[in-house]
Amino acid sequence: MAKVKTAFFCRNCGAKYPKWSGQCSSCGEWNTLDEEIVSTGKKPTTFKTEPSTVRKIREVDFSPGRRMSLQNDELNRVLGDGLVDGSVVLLGGEPGIGKSTLLLQMAIQLKEKKILYVSGEESEYQIRMRAERIGIQNEGTYLLAETEIEAIITASENLKPDILILDSIQTMRTAKIDSSPGTISQVRECAAEIQQYSKKTGIPVFLIGHITKDGSIAGPKILEHIVDTVLQFEGDRHHGYRILRTLKNRFGSASELGIFEMQSNGLREVSNPSEILLSDREEGLPGAAVAATMEGVRPLLLEIQALVSPSPYGNPQRSANGFDQRRMNMLLAVLEKRSGMKMGINDVFLNVTGGIRVDDPAVDLPVAAALASSYHDLSIDSKICLAAEVGLSGEVRPVNKIEQRISEADKLGFNTMIISQNNFKSLSRKDFKIKIVPATRLSDVWKQIFG
Ligand code: TYD
Ligand code: MG
Repeated sequence: MAKVKTAFFCRNCGAKYPKWSGQCSSCGEWNTLDEEIVSTGKKPTTFKTEPSTVRKIREVDFSPGRRMSLQNDELNRVLGDGLVDGSVVLLGGEPGIGKSTLLLQMAIQLKEKKILYVSGEESEYQIRMRAERIGIQNEGTYLLAETEIEAIITASENLKPDILILDSIQTMRTAKIDSSPGTISQVRECAAEIQQYSKKTGIPVFLIGHITKDGSIAGPKILEHIVDTVLQFEGDRHHGYRILRTLKNRFGSASELGIFEMQSNGLREVSNPSEILLSDREEGLPGAAVAATMEGVRPLLLEIQALVSPSPYGNPQRSANGFDQRRMNMLLAVLEKRSGMKMGINDVFLNVTGGIRVDDPAVDLPVAAALASSYHDLSIDSKICLAAEVGLSGEVRPVNKIEQRISEADKLGFNTMIISQNNFKSLSRKDFKIKIVPATRLSDVWKQIFG
């Protein structure tokens, strides 16, 4: 193989060094040097036989690539109706969340396809054990325990699978550079090689990637630019429900969402998301409120639970599970200032049931209602459901897709839905069974739910 030349570059200021060192002597930052390829030693070759031509946009062929259905509705949905030929999909998630299970299960469910599952993390024995647990037999699923990208590509060239799965990109290495697996340069070079291979052969590839504590896919964001689709698998490890989110998709919507439940024999598709609400609900407790959220294009009803209790140590604690804590602090300040609730002397804990994380602005009002309910120790009628954003001056603001939210609450048997006055005015139909209550300010909401 031709000699590959590498050098070290500072991530912060871009200075170049022939050797690694702990500190960049140019900008003084620590631990910012990454190895990068400077020259591959090969002469640049051109494959083009014709000169590049400029074309009218109208004349460009736009028929979509062939899509493969994956026998898994939730997975098909987040990919934008199946897996596109020659696409590279990155699946990120925290360790233990179920990434390997999801893709292995997909592989063995696809009966007529040949799939190569490459693992750099587990032995063939461990993967076989997992497949036994899922309990489906498939002659077309092949395993390879390997970490060198060149060897993987050779194996794939021989087998010619319909789908290639790499578990995980952080354990893979290319012989071209010396740095250890998981470093930025290794991750980037491996992903780039796999991407070229995928584009050349048309074989779709899944890359599993671990997520660091701060939530970014390790190998800071670089992979997200290389791949076509980025999926994130999330959930609370102590709960069964898992959410698969599309963060980027060149072949479909980037706001899709799939829901699964981890069971003893693999992941079950949850096709009716509102079962999460109905599965573990105890009625009539103070501090609970139901939110009509939208996740992707589907309405999802969730229960928000809050506990507001006097702080014994004078240094109040704040904690939020499944909801942005800064947003909760903002709502607490609004409740304090606009509704006169003494939140500052209380500990506040907030929880979204099912271990699900929500970032829909319509959850503001249900969160505020749950906090107020716990503060006053008054329960909210279990047939009331809420959806609205809350502004800094305590105004109740409109949210998108209000009709879908109302229909879902209606369908699940709620009898009252509190929304913003502006949303109410623009409703195109008002013939729902459920009673719709418009609100302009938080005080209107308190009157409605606490009497
Ligand atoms: P895994 O797919 O190994 O997670 P990741 O690849 O994201 O690190 O799965 C992790 C957990 O899932 C593990 O704690 C065991 C559990 N599990 C089940 O509950 N049921 C099952 O059928 C399987 C295969 C795993
Ligand atoms: Mg794994």
